[in-house]
Amino acid sequence: MHIEWDERFDTGIEVVDKQHHGLIHILNGLYDSIGKGQGEAVLLGIFGELQRYADDHFDTEERLMKAQAVAPRHQAEHVIRHVAYRRRIEAYRARREAGERLVPIQVLAFVSDWWIEHILTCDRVFESLARDARDGEGDNPSWPAR
Ligand SMILES: [Fe+2]
Repeated sequence: MHIEWDERFDTGIEVVDKQHHGLIHILNGLYDSIGKGQGEAVLLGIFGELQRYADDHFDTEERLMKAQAVAPRHQAEHVIRHVAYRRRIEAYRARREAGERLVPIQVLAFVSDWWIEHILTCDRVFESLARDARDGEGDNPSWPAR
């Protein structure tokens, strides 16, 4: 099924939410391709898209956490999750490049589950940063407006 945006995904940080919307667009695109019987054909391209997306998006998140002085322990754990995800996608890509036939719907299920869980748990940190900013506790002038 298509992933529909759920208000629980909102972090309140515009740049993060916008990027998360972009991710769902990629995943729904893969779903549509699978529906047309083209899942296998698009898989390598999708891995490339997911890798470019991860580079951009994790960089945004990690810079925000640093700039807003999020607890180092949270940052460390959060970054570990990001690294683990990159490795999973890289491993999928390597298997596909080596000629292995992957089951596109299983790839989609893994990636979708990973992201939904991540957005609803780790990325809650951005919600609390947004709240602090609204409450006037964040005095960083570069803080993105809601
Ligand atoms: Fe994250």
